Amino acid sequence: MTDAAELPGRTRDDAAVTEMLAAFWHPVCTLDELRASATRVLPVRLLGCDLAIAELSDDEHTIVAMDDRCVHRSTRLSVGWAEADGLRCAYHGWKWDGGGRCIEIPSMPDGPIPGRARVRAYRTKVVYDLVWVCLDERSSAEIPRSVAHGDPAVRIVPGVPYTWSVSALRRVENFVDLAHFAWVHVGTLGQRERPVPPLPEIERADGELRFTYDPPSDFDAGGAAMYGWSRYRMPMPCTVSIEFDLAGGARRTLWMTASPIDLDTCRCFWFMGRTDDLDGPDEPHVEFQRIVLAQDEPVVNNQVPRALPLDPADELSVRTDKVSIEYRRWLRELVDARIGAHA
Ligand code: FES
Ligand SMILES: [Fe+2]
Repeated sequence: MTDAAELPGRTRDDAAVTEMLAAFWHPVCTLDELRASATRVLPVRLLGCDLAIAELSDDEHTIVAMDDRCVHRSTRLSVGWAEADGLRCAYHGWKWDGGGRCIEIPSMPDGPIPGRARVRAYRTKVVYDLVWVCLDERSSAEIPRSVAHGDPAVRIVPGVPYTWSVSALRRVENFVDLAHFAWVHVGTLGQRERPVPPLPEIERADGELRFTYDPPSDFDAGGAAMYGWSRYRMPMPCTVSIEFDLAGGARRTLWMTASPIDLDTCRCFWFMGRTDDLDGPDEPHVEFQRIVLAQDEPVVNNQVPRALPLDPADELSVRTDKVSIEYRRWLRELVDARIGAHA
């Protein structure tokens, strides 16, 4: 019999990586996307789990997340609709409260409701106008911080989420890869004739990975560019927050979280912040990011396997891969801690 780990694209660590990532909060949709649904229910997938996200119409407008499968006859709950106190299954009308308990079986108004009439429900939060879910009920993780939110000097511009056919970890590694600027981002973030990146000091503090980047100052990337001395912070393995100090004292931020749909696919949620050009249109800033993303997309979406290998022998690293080497070391530690917890 073939070991699952020997199948193309699968690594021995897949289960531990999934479990490690399940302990963090991940965004699954924007609040706008959920509210655009006439039923106030949306199907999403997180780490291979199909979930139904619903906004109940109670006083709090409570947002709930539960397995997207009714235990009665297995119709997806996401084809149902949200009511004030629960999610109504479209097939036979059973109603599920936010904790995943069945509270009504219309064909049996006098009951009883079987004790097994439960679906798994998960914690949710709405932060930065995104709906976040944590699959691990024991986790004490927090939502990754954004320095831009809550700062009255910053204008925040949300980006349109995008889905890429690559693992969240590969997507994030690309985001902090300094050696690709000279090749992939010619004219926006780098120059072909300057292929040698700096080797930053990498700090691990408060559960974050941090470093600073000081790009060549004689390169004009344009007024809408996110380019300049920058502080990178990774509050968790799928989130990157970059704070740029521009010449002249302006500050800009770029924040991205790659939500793991599964180990081969991610959906990226992001936003920008700026303290300058406050009266100017957002379009040039959005367009700059669109160009950068279009430059990254063909190389990142063609990495095989799509999952990021954590065995150093699986890919060849060199000295100038310093950031990604440290990123992978961090991931390895997090995964090993999960494996150790089961030993
Ligand atoms: S399948 Fe959901 S109520 Fe029957
Ligand atoms: Fe890039």
